[in-house]
Amino acid sequence: MKYDETTIPGRYNAARALPAETMGLWLDALVRRVPTREINTVLDMGCGTGRFSASLSDQFGAIVVGADPSQKMLAEARRTVEHPRVKFLIGSAEHLPLNDGTICLIYLSMVYHHIDNLALATNEWYRVLRPGGFLCIRNSTRDLLTSFLYLQFFPSALEFNKDRLPRQRDVIETMQRHGFLFVSHDVIRQRFARNLREYVDKIRQRGLSDLSSLPDNEFEAGVESMRQVVEQEERLEPIAEPIDFFVFNKKAGQAGSAVRRR
Ligand SMILES: C[S@@+](CC[C@H](N)C(=O)[O-])C[C@H]1O[C@@H](n2cnc3c(N)ncnc32)[C@H](O)[C@@H]1O
Repeated sequence: MKYDETTIPGRYNAARALPAETMGLWLDALVRRVPTREINTVLDMGCGTGRFSASLSDQFGAIVVGADPSQKMLAEARRTVEHPRVKFLIGSAEHLPLNDGTICLIYLSMVYHHIDNLALATNEWYRVLRPGGFLCIRNSTRDLLTSFLYLQFFPSALEFNKDRLPRQRDVIETMQRHGFLFVSHDVIRQRFARNLREYVDKIRQRGLSDLSSLPDNEFEAGVESMRQVVEQEERLEPIAEPIDFFVFNKKAGQAGSAVRRR
């Protein structure tokens, strides 16, 4: 999806802000799988508004390059993230303005399903990673779609996601086919909102790309149904969502250039 052709960038942070506790959950998941001391440079691939960039830098004490093809998302990132070790660049996964073997860790959060040419992108990730470097993919998958509460109210978005999201095994097989070693797959249940009312408020912001793709009348109808549920049952417990987290490794001793194994 071309974010510059949407109105998502201005709403993204309000709609998709992660509570501090949730950010902590993701950083814990990362350091459980990746040795912190080996990470000096991080590529936050498809960084968007830079939701993760500063935290990644603080966690590893690393230089973070946030790269994204959307000028508007990057403008939000530059406006909201001020950090001495974080810089933002225009660039897509398929064409990275980075030298071979310069990155210790590539972090992709909710980007995988937006990439048009995965073969090209995977070769680029392999090229810019140093031998022994890590590739971490945080993404929704088709396997867990039915656990997302809001999709019960937007049936076309559910169908749309069935088409565009990868299956868990697609992610693993694609990376292995391109030379990466599989390290781990976890499902992280993250808190998205403190209660149902806050959840509906966030969904109404329409910062999710599947909801942004719906016709306005369908979006409004779904929001109205959600609002009626809130009026009927005051659910006070937090709303959590399961997100997949995959970690891969570029074998130590491999050259920095693109490697394709089929
Ligand atoms: C859902 S946002 C995720 C932003 C950020 N990673 C986060 O978790 O908040 C998806 C981002 O992927 C970017 N994107 C779309 N196509 C891309 C591509 N081919 N290469 C890299 N990023 C891409 C979009 O511009 C957008 O900023």
